Amino acid sequence: MLKGKDIVIGVTGGIAAYKAVDVVSKLIKLNANVDVIMTEAATKFVTPLTFQSLAHNPVVVDMFREPVSWDIEHIALAKKADIFLVVPATANIIGKIAHGIADDMLSTTIMASKAKKIIVPAMNTNMYKNVIVQENIEKLKSLDYKFINPISGKLACGDIGEGKLPDPQDIIDQILEIIKNDESNKDLLDKKVLVTAGATIAPLDPVRYLTNHSSGKMGYEIAKEAKRRGAKVILVSGHTTQNKIDGIETIYIDTTEEMLEQVKMHFDDADMVIKAAAPLDYRPKIVNDNKIKKEDGGLNVEFVKTPDILKTLGQMKKEQVLVGFAAETQELLKNAQKKLEQKNLDFIVANDVSKKGAGFKENTNIVTIIDKNGSKAYSIMEKSKIAKIIVDKACKYLK
Ligand code: PMT
Repeated sequence: MLKGKDIVIGVTGGIAAYKAVDVVSKLIKLNANVDVIMTEAATKFVTPLTFQSLAHNPVVVDMFREPVSWDIEHIALAKKADIFLVVPATANIIGKIAHGIADDMLSTTIMASKAKKIIVPAMNTNMYKNVIVQENIEKLKSLDYKFINPISGKLACGDIGEGKLPDPQDIIDQILEIIKNDESNKDLLDKKVLVTAGATIAPLDPVRYLTNHSSGKMGYEIAKEAKRRGAKVILVSGHTTQNKIDGIETIYIDTTEEMLEQVKMHFDDADMVIKAAAPLDYRPKIVNDNKIKKEDGGLNVEFVKTPDILKTLGQMKKEQVLVGFAAETQELLKNAQKKLEQKNLDFIVANDVSKKGAGFKENTNIVTIIDKNGSKAYSIMEKSKIAKIIVDKACKYLK
C-alpha cells in the first residue's frame, strides 16, 4: 500500500526521536520513498546521517543552508509528499502547526504541504494533558490532521502516564489503517451530499438570543466522511465550534428559517441529505427592536413554532436518501420511530442526549439506528466512526 508513496517525515526534538529511525527503516522496507526533515533540537538526539543512511535521501535541517539539490528543498518537499508524518511530535511543533507558525524548515514545509498529515505526539504526560496542547490537537483534528495517540508507560523523565511514543510497528500499522480508510470507498464520487450541522439561534432582541448546546461536531464528521468518499458536499452550518473544512462548500446560517431556505435551495439535485443539525423548534414571536430593559418581576415571552425543515424535505423527497437524527432524553426508540415515519425518512439516528458520552459537544456518541426493518444499537464510539457507519448505511439506499 505504501509502495512508491512519497513520505516526508518530520522528526522533532524528543527522546523518542530514536524510534523514528525504526519507523523510517520499516517504511523503506515497505518500498516507500522517504525524505526526512529534522528540527535543530532533533539533531541533538539523533544525527541526520543516521536517517540519511537509511532513507538514501539527504536530510534537511537548516532552512538557509545551500540546498543539496533544489528538488528536495522546502516547497519541493511539500509538493512531493503524499503523506506527511511527524514522529515524534513535541508540544512545540503541534502548537506551531495549530497556530500557523512557520519559522523553521519543518514547520514551513508542513504549512506549504497539501499532503495527508499524520502526527504522532510524544512528550511528558502533564504536557500532553495540558489543555492548551489538547486544544491544539483538537483543532488540528477538526482540520483533518490524523493523530496516532501516545501510549501509557514509564516516560524518559521518570513519570508514568500517557505520552510515550507507540512501538514503531504499531505506528506503521496505524498509518496503514489511516491510508486504507482514505483510499478505499470512493463510493460517493459524482454524488452530491447535503449535510446540516450545529445549532440555530432565535433572537429575542438586538443583544440576546436563544440557542442549544449543539457544537456541530457530529454533522462536521459526517461532512468530512462524505468528502473523503469523493462526494461534493454542501454543509449548511448553524453556530458551531468547528473549523471550516477544506474542500467543503460551507454555508453559515443563524436561524431555523435561514437553514430551511438554504437546504431547500440545494435539495433538488442532492443524492443524499443528512440532517445532524439541532434547529430550534420555537422562536420568540416578537423580536424587540431595542434591548429589553430589566424591570421588576419576570419576563413573559410568547413563542411560535419554527418550520420543521426535515418534515418539509420529507414531503419534497424524490430519489434523495433522507436521514434524520432524533435527540431525545426519554423514550428514545418510541420518539425516534415516530419521527422516522412522520418525516418520511429512510432511516433515523437516535441519540439519548442525557447519557454521558452521548449527544451535544462530546467527541463520542451513543446511537441507535432505526429504519423500517428494525433498529440496531451501537456502543459508545468516536463521532468520526459513527459518521462512517451512517454514511455506509446511507450509501446502501442510493438509487
Ligand atoms: O452537534 P453536536 O454537539 O455534535 O451534537 C450532536 C447532536 C446531539 C446535535 C446530534 O447528534 C443530533 O441529535 N442532532 C439532531 C438534533 C435535533 O434537533 O433533534 P430533534 O429530535 O429535535 O429533531 C429531529 C430531526 O429533525 C433532526 O434531524 C433535526 O435536524 C430535524 N429538525 C428539527 C427541528 C426543526 N425545526 N427542523 C428540523 O429539520
